[in-house]
Amino acid sequence: MWLINSSIGRKLVMSISGLGLILFLTFHMAMNAVALFSGEGYNMVCEFLGANWYALVATVGLAALVVIHIVYAFILQIQNRKARGSERYKVTAKPKGVEWASQNMLVLGIIVILGLALHLVHFWSKMQLTEILGGHEALVYEGLVIAPTNGAALIAYNFSQPLIVVLYVVWLAAIWFHLSHGFWSALHTIGWNGKNWIKRLECISNVYTTIIVLGFIAVPIFFFVQSLMDPNFVFEYIKSTLG
Ligand code: HEM
Repeated sequence: MWLINSSIGRKLVMSISGLGLILFLTFHMAMNAVALFSGEGYNMVCEFLGANWYALVATVGLAALVVIHIVYAFILQIQNRKARGSERYKVTAKPKGVEWASQNMLVLGIIVILGLALHLVHFWSKMQLTEILGGHEALVYEGLVIAPTNGAALIAYNFSQPLIVVLYVVWLAAIWFHLSHGFWSALHTIGWNGKNWIKRLECISNVYTTIIVLGFIAVPIFFFVQSLMDPNFVFEYIKSTLG
């Protein structure tokens, strides 16, 4: 199959899976933004995306996209190293016009995956996975029982912890670098490569990536600042989500 055997086929798979993941991030960021305005509204979204069959199908599809993207990233990396042979040891200066992110996509991708693993432990394992396993408690906070559909309470709890907030900001910065190059590169690979479009695509992908990443960062910062200003914030907020 040319999608596996040929170099352009593999790049195409990488690009299409990457664009699919960017689409997911767009929805996910928009969904999270609801938490900035209403905990109740956010929990309605979380309930909708819990252990329902359509949400489970989407999770399996998403996991397949992530696995394909990672496996192909390693295949392309190995292929590039082989193609360059010992040349890569001779090159010390960065090639002109190639930005830092494009040369560090694999390292950035690994940071993104490590952050994602941590994120899934913080949220998905306590929510959808707990529901799948038949559990009814995501967490107990100072005697308050948080249900697996109560994403708003988990956000308030997690983002009152400085270390978690710092790790999320570092993770999201790595995502910014990874996407700013990846988005542009994917559009280029799927055929949007006219001479006039190169600079425009670079600008579009930078602006789009910045909006997504700032949208994500707003949530941990918003909740962290509130927990700093009021020591009772987390307890009162979680209590208010219990109805
Ligand atoms: C910093 C802001 C973020 C918040 C507050 C947040 C919140 C959440 C929540 C509450 C869930 C659980 C949904 C459920 O199981 O019902 C979730 C799942 C998930 N998040 Fe995030 N997220 C954030 C950033 C990200 C980023 C940047 C990525 C990707 C790089 C990401 C990838 C995922 C994935 C893959 C899942 C599992 C989705 C599924 O079950 O289908 N999240 N997130």
